[in-house]
Parts: sequence; structure tokens; C-alpha cells
Amino acid sequence: MFTEKAVVQFLKPIEQNIYLLKAYSPKISQNIKPGQFCNIKVSDTDFPLLRRPFSICEAEGDCVSFLFNIHGIGTKILSGKREGNEINILGPLGNGFNISGNYDQAVIVAGGLGSAPFPYLINSLDSSKEVLSYVGAQTKTDLVTYKLKSVSISTDDGTAGFKGNVIELLEKQKRLFVKNVKLFGCGPTPMLKALQKFSAENNYECEISTECAMACGFGICQGCPIESTANINSYKLVCKDGPVFNSRDIVL
Ligand SMILES: Cc1cc2nc3c(=O)[nH]c(=O)nc-3n(C[C@H](O)[C@H](O)[C@H](O)COP(=O)(O)OP(=O)(O)OC[C@H]3O[C@@H](n4cnc5c(N)ncnc54)[C@H](O)[C@@H]3O)c2cc1C
Ligand code: FES
Repeated sequence: MFTEKAVVQFLKPIEQNIYLLKAYSPKISQNIKPGQFCNIKVSDTDFPLLRRPFSICEAEGDCVSFLFNIHGIGTKILSGKREGNEINILGPLGNGFNISGNYDQAVIVAGGLGSAPFPYLINSLDSSKEVLSYVGAQTKTDLVTYKLKSVSISTDDGTAGFKGNVIELLEKQKRLFVKNVKLFGCGPTPMLKALQKFSAENNYECEISTECAMACGFGICQGCPIESTANINSYKLVCKDGPVFNSRDIVL
């Protein structure tokens, strides 16, 4: 884990209210795995006090990229960064996806900005693995398909693609899945819960990247517990043991 003064290369909108931030951050870029995240200090002052967590979206050469939307004050400040500005980044944090293993097909399942970690995951996969991406959102303008492969989309309101949620779309399309498929999911908790059920019912291997409010981001404050299926009343920490878990290992 490092803190690095990263230099913004660019920050640009790629969709309505979705920004791509690329920064020169060689130590983090060369040490981060798909599914890990960084804690970004969004301002040079003590306000806001807490760093904000963002998934690694791309790590290429000496640069890292993040995808984010304006949620509250922290992301509002971040969206004001310009080329040449410095931002203090803490990372790599968390465990990341396990991309090795004996599977032939990687099925990406993303809800809204849950697609943020997947460009780097796709880029890191062995080229023999087929990639199918399923992306859902409430409405067309919330869809984020940046650098995904073989994308099928769903919207709750039917403004683009399949009308319904992304797990209903998966149910319809699962005939396309090979026997040794592996699912990778990231998105809102209700979506992850439905994905957890879908993968258990179909006996698919599945890893999910979870999200919760965080303070420290590396296991000190104990502020990010998630219930584990290992024992009754046992908990894991999202920031340290996750944010990626085998879908069988946690209770959502
Ligand atoms: C592991 C992880 C990866 C993430 N990856 C991305 C990403 O790639 N792109 C993206 O847009 N968003 C991502 N998020 C969510 C992002 O961290 C929140 O949207 C952001 O912290 C909101 O900050 P804000 O100041 O704009 O919002 P505010 O709502 O103003 O934040 C208010 C307070 O709540 C806390 N808070 C609110 N929501 C969260 C949250 N989900 N996690 C932690 N603290 C929170 C903040 O620390 C802050 O103190 C991720 C969250 C986690 C945990
Ligand atoms: S955020 Fe502090 S322990 Fe997880």
C-alpha cells in the first residue's frame, strides 16, 4: 500500500454525469490488480476529511484511471480537477478478483457504475477466455459500457435493450453460457443479491464486488463489516477481506 501524489492527465465526461479521470501514478499502476480500489483525497485541505474509495478502472503503463459520477461533495470536488493538478491516492487497497482458474468464459454483470472495475479485469484476462458483458441500469442515460466487450444491456424502463433488470436478462441468455463459466458482478446491493441467488441456483462460480461506507479503507477502523457465511455471527471487512468475495461466502 502506497500513498502517491498522482498527476491528473485528463478528466473528461464520457456519459451524462459520468467522468473518466486518468492520472500518472506509477507505483500504484504497477502494483494494482483488477477489483482492487484506491482511496482518493479529493482536496488539498482537511475538508472533506475522509478519502473517497474508487475502483481501479484501468492501469496502463504508469497511469491509472477511475470512472465516477457526482454523488456528493467529494465527487463534486474531484470532478473539478484539471490536467496537471495533483491528487493524493492511497492504494492498492482490498483483495481484487481472482482471474486465474479453469474457466473458458467470463461473464461480466454490472449495474450502473458497477461497470467501473471491468475494463481492467477484461484487459487482464488470458486471451483464450471469451467475455460476455451484461449491463443494467434504471434508464438509458445511466448505462455505463465503457471498454466492455460483447455487451448486452437492460433498462428497468425499457428505454434501451431488454426491458427489465439485468438478472432477468441473464436468466434469458444463460443458454449462451458454457459449462465452466465464471461470473463477475459489481453494482447495487439488490442486484448483487439477485446475482448471488442466480449463480447459486445454476451452480455457477461467481465473484462479486461489494460496496459500503468506508472510513480508513485498510482494516483499522472496523467500520465496514459484512456478514460471513462461515459461522453464525461472523463478519468480514469489506475494505480488507473484500471488496471482492466469492458469492457463497457472504450474506447480503
Ligand atoms: C470499494 C468501493 C469502490 C467504489 N468504486 C467507485 C467507483 O469506481 N466509481 C464511483 O463513482 N463510486 C465508487 N464508489 C462509491 C464512492 O466511493 C462514493 O460514491 C463516494 O465516496 C461518495 O463521496 P461523496 O463525497 O461524493 O458523497 P457523499 O454522499 O457526500 O459522502 C458523504 C459521506 O458518506 C460516505 N460515503 C457515502 N457513500 C459511500 C460509499 N459508498 N463508500 C464509502 N463512503 C461513502 C463518505 O465517506 C462521506 O463521508 C466505491 C465505493 C467503494 C466502497
Ligand atoms: S473502512 Fe476501516 S476497517 Fe474497513
